[in-house]
Amino acid sequence: MNWLYRNEAVGLAHSKLILVGEHVVVYDKPAIAIPFPLKIIAKITNQPGEITFTSDLYHGNLNDMPANMQGLLECINRAFELCQKPREGVHIEVTSNIPIGRGLGSSAASATALVRGIYHYFHKDLSLEELFHLVGLAETYAHGKPSGIDMMAVASDAPIYYRKTIGASLFHVSKPFHIIVADTGKVGDTKKAVNHVREMKLRNPHVVDQIIDEIEEIVRKAKASILEGDTKQLGILLTRNHEKLKNLGVSDPFLDRLITSALNAGALGAKLTGGGMGGCIIALAKQKEHAVNVAKELKKCGAKKVWCFSNASEEIYFTE
Ligand code: PMV
Repeated sequence: MNWLYRNEAVGLAHSKLILVGEHVVVYDKPAIAIPFPLKIIAKITNQPGEITFTSDLYHGNLNDMPANMQGLLECINRAFELCQKPREGVHIEVTSNIPIGRGLGSSAASATALVRGIYHYFHKDLSLEELFHLVGLAETYAHGKPSGIDMMAVASDAPIYYRKTIGASLFHVSKPFHIIVADTGKVGDTKKAVNHVREMKLRNPHVVDQIIDEIEEIVRKAKASILEGDTKQLGILLTRNHEKLKNLGVSDPFLDRLITSALNAGALGAKLTGGGMGGCIIALAKQKEHAVNVAKELKKCGAKKVWCFSNASEEIYFTE
């Protein structure tokens, strides 16, 4: 047996949640995102011949990937080019527990894990600049003109305050908070939602610009609340952010129902997270037991899946 066949490397990435500021971040306003401990693993294994690929979405020859995975294909091809290696001789396997198309950053996380895995496999150092260049190729296919927050957030182990033209700054959370994530089970369409806001802004610039400015103010206040450990105020800001997203037309009746259910269960605040028009909501709880109760209410209300976690640990302590 050829010893080279045993070569293997893995690349990892995690999911993310946008706490506040999605959509306005496209217009160079700030947003806050935090790591969410769902994981994706890309395993690169030595295998002679053409590159083959296995994931929940596709299994087969790399070159025959379906149209909706062309961004990932471009990202992988470019990674091989930058590693100065011929595109052959490996099998790529992607395993993930991040649901796809729910605003949890699965596309950015899979590209990040893949790039990290490929570089690791070839023993090549990966700069952040290179990582973002490569993941950006996949993200541009997926989203059109992404703000870049997803790829920054899935690569960061700490909360980020992000602006498109300035980049990401890490910041310290003074008091741990408890978050519930509830999945509607409906695939969101970030590209459609971003285009919807863009068209609305063209039609009604004054109205939309005002909403964007209001969300910007919410994001700034949310950052201050997090720094001060004022969870109650943070909750109020989340709900206010959701109202503004609703005004932008990116929520939907099920997301709104889940938010009402979380608030009725005593959540400090709740909003959709990510592009919207499907996907997930987040809710802020008073403490751990409360988070589990809110999660159970959300499940009763029809959420397909719920997760509870605290930003203080890497652990999801309840899921159903
Ligand atoms: O990929 P999603 O659904 O988490 O959305 C990313 C956030 C948006 O602000 C809606 C789009 C963007 O490019 O920032």
